[in-house]
Amino acid sequence: SFIPVILAGGKGERFWPLSRRQRPKQFLSLDDSGDSLLQSTANRLLPIAKNWNNLWVVTTDSIVKDVKKHLPYMMDSNLLIEPEGKDTAPAVAWAILEIVKRYGSDVIIGFFPADHWIKSEEDFLVTLNSAFQLASPGNAIITLGVQPTYPSTGYGYIEQGEPINYAGNLPAYQVNRFVEKPDQETAELLIANGKFSWNSGILIFRADIMLQELERYTPQLLNFLRKKGKEAYKDLEKISIDYALMEKTKFTYVLNANFGWDDLGDWNSLERLTNEAKANIEHCKHIGIDTKGSIIYASDKNELIATIGLKNLVIVRDNNVTLVVDKSRTQDIKQILKNIANYP
Ligand code: GDD
Ligand code: MG
Repeated sequence: SFIPVILAGGKGERFWPLSRRQRPKQFLSLDDSGDSLLQSTANRLLPIAKNWNNLWVVTTDSIVKDVKKHLPYMMDSNLLIEPEGKDTAPAVAWAILEIVKRYGSDVIIGFFPADHWIKSEEDFLVTLNSAFQLASPGNAIITLGVQPTYPSTGYGYIEQGEPINYAGNLPAYQVNRFVEKPDQETAELLIANGKFSWNSGILIFRADIMLQELERYTPQLLNFLRKKGKEAYKDLEKISIDYALMEKTKFTYVLNANFGWDDLGDWNSLERLTNEAKANIEHCKHIGIDTKGSIIYASDKNELIATIGLKNLVIVRDNNVTLVVDKSRTQDIKQILKNIANYP
C-alpha cells in the first residue's frame, strides 16, 4: 500500500495578518476553490490513500482542534498529535514508526506539506505513480524537484545526477547532492550551475530504507521515539528532515515535478495563482484610482478599501489588523512579528 502523510504543524508567519499564531497558512483558503490549503491537500491525496482509513496527518497539539474542523472525516487513529513542534525530522520519524506498526516495514510512505498549491491534480498523481514504482524495491528516498526560477535561500536544492532504469514511466535520476537553504552566494552558484532543482518538500520511500538511514544519521532521535513515543518530544532537538537526513543520505533520487507547484511562501505568490495578469489582485471591494500591480485583501469580502495613486503594494485587512507593505519587502513581515511581543 501507499500511505500518504500530511505534515501540518508549521507556522507560516509570512501571510500575517491573515495567518496568525492560531491560524497558520494551511488553514487559509487562498485560491477560489473555497477549500483551505489543508483541505485541498487531503482531497488531492485521497485517490492515493483510497479512503480515509489510510490518510495520516501529523500536527501539533496547539492546532489539532482546527485540523479536526477542517478535516471532519479524518480518523482519530490516523491523527498523530505532537506535544510541541520540533520541526520535520521528529514528525517524519515518529509517523514512520507508528505507520509501520499498522502496515509493516515494507509499506510505501509519502510525506506532503499541508500548505502548498498544486495546479494539476492529474499530473500530480501520474508523478506519484512513478514515485511509487521507484520506491517499491526499497532502496530509494525519492524527492520531487521543481524547476527553479531565481536564487532563493528558502528552499532545498537537488543536484540531478545520472538517469536510472526502473519500472515507472517518468524519467528518474540519481541525486549527487542535496543542499538545504543555501546562503545567497551559494544559491546563485547553484542556479548558475544549471543542474539543480528546488526541493518541493515531498518525500516518498519504503519505510525500511528510511528507518535504516535515520538509524545511521539520527540514531538518538529514533531511539528516543522508539522507547518513549511522544513522551520523547521534550528531549528532542528541533531539526528538519532536510538538515538531519536529506543532506547526508546517499539513497536520494529525484523525479521532476511538472504538475505546477508553488509553496505560497509569501503574499506575492497569490499573483502566480491567478492566470491572467490582472492590474490588481482584489479580494474585497476595492475602489482604486491610479492603483497598479497591487494586492488588496480583506478577510471580510464586504470590506471596502479605497486607494489612490499607488503601485506594487500589498494591503491586507484582517480582524483589527492592517498591513501595508511594499511588494518587494513581503519576506520581511517576519521582522515585524519579532518586534511585537505576542503578536495578535
Ligand atoms: N507535524 C509537524 N511538526 N509539521 C511541521 C513541523 C512540526 O514541527 N514543522 C513544519 N511542519 C510542516 C509544515 O506545516 C509544512 O507543511 C512542512 O512541514 C514543511 O515545513 P516548512 O517549515 O514549511 O519547511 P520549509 O518551507 O522551510 O522548507 C521545506 O520545504 C521547502 C519547499 O517548500 C524544505 O523541505 C525545503 O528543502 C523545501 O525546498
Ligand atoms: Mg514551507
